[in-house]
Amino acid sequence: MNVVMIGAGYVGLVSGACFAEFGASVVCVDKQEERITALRQGKIPIYEPGLEDLVRKNADAGRLSFTTDVAGSVAKADLAFIAVGTPTRRGDGHADLKYVYAAAQEIAENLQGYTVIVDKSTVPVGTAREVARVISKTNPDADFDVASNPEFLREGSAISDFLRPDRVVLGVESERAEARLRELYRPLNLIEAPLLVTGLESAELIKYAANAFLATKISFINEMSQLCEKTGADVNAVAKGMGMDKRIGNKFLHAGPGYGGSCFPKDTLALNRMAQEYGVGSRIVEAVVEVNASQKARMVSKIREALGGSEADKRIAVLGLTFKPETDDMRDAPALAILPALIDRGATICAHDPEGMDEARPLLPEAMEYADTIEEALKDADAVVLMTEWNQYRGLNLRDVRDTMRGDVFVDLRNVYERGLMEAAGLQYTSVGR
Ligand code: NAI
Repeated sequence: MNVVMIGAGYVGLVSGACFAEFGASVVCVDKQEERITALRQGKIPIYEPGLEDLVRKNADAGRLSFTTDVAGSVAKADLAFIAVGTPTRRGDGHADLKYVYAAAQEIAENLQGYTVIVDKSTVPVGTAREVARVISKTNPDADFDVASNPEFLREGSAISDFLRPDRVVLGVESERAEARLRELYRPLNLIEAPLLVTGLESAELIKYAANAFLATKISFINEMSQLCEKTGADVNAVAKGMGMDKRIGNKFLHAGPGYGGSCFPKDTLALNRMAQEYGVGSRIVEAVVEVNASQKARMVSKIREALGGSEADKRIAVLGLTFKPETDDMRDAPALAILPALIDRGATICAHDPEGMDEARPLLPEAMEYADTIEEALKDADAVVLMTEWNQYRGLNLRDVRDTMRGDVFVDLRNVYERGLMEAAGLQYTSVGR
């Protein structure tokens, strides 16, 4: 089976390497030359645990290669996946589909023989049909089908998510396309991973509905965290008690600084936009987006209050910048909303992140300082803000922390620690919803 993957970012690279691991012959295409040059040298442009070994293994076995040349790779392909970015379109919240349609156009110009063109990018309902239209228009003789195969991997555990998925969703319209996709995913039969075959529209909507639902759980518990703070309840206990009900489940019920990352923020906006365009709206998801924005703003106030009412002339050590641990992805990370607001009001910030500092630098104010070690970040700090729960930050020696800092304020935006331990170490502890 010959597969071409257009776009060698988080999703394209992980999917490409995993399909190669399944035994397919995969070519990953990206228009960023430096990315392809690096990949050919075995250098992975993103931080994702296990990816480097998987890429090297499959490249060495001759099943995985990298190119900027769409033409040759598409001509040989049985399946052409589109895994390019679908960021928020400026101004209206809609998913920007220009990269998807550009990829469709390039595929169309180079098709030879029957090919299944598969949207792996997260795209609004109707996109697969539009991709089909672009292809027929560009190449009226093309023999092809379109399909939708949304991706559910999580950054940080992308490879195991891909190799052991909860489900694979295939939106198809023809038996030929379905047979080809089933063949590609056949190794998953061994682990009995469920394969859900639907129409194109359902597959496209499943991805947005799933992400919006997960974002809803986060905004819900974040809203509860505010009520917990007012009433004296502990949001960790509330979440635990809720999560023990199997109908609710215990995942995605961690109060924190609000969701971020490359998917939830843009996908909730895109779903709202789509619902508006179809004249139905989505009041729940609109509220989810609002609650998330206010949660980030609330974190700024929380830090200010912990500092005694003003962040002016205060030195703050920030531990963690990425939107979650085990990734270097800074897209829409809560730090990008919270830290500039603190700097604007006169704080000095020195941040540490195990993997995200290079990605963070161009996105944060120039006045930010960065530390190579946790100790360096803590030195002379009036306050520490634990922003992302990397493992390195879960087992801090709190007495050392207190001794290294100038002040004694510890703001734990991920509820990693317990108040008793903090107070025993002489730290003033603030967390979320407790
Ligand atoms: P990304 O930005 O990391 O990668 C996209 C890649 O596509 C870039 O390297 C870009 O240079 C390349 N590209 C764009 N147009 C191209 C073209 N015409 N030809 C060749 N290469 C081209 O994006 P990421 O995170 O991989 O996301 C891709 C899609 O997958 C998005 O729709 C996203 O919503 C979805 N998704 C992302 C997940 C994630 O955790 N990052 C999880 C599930 C879905």
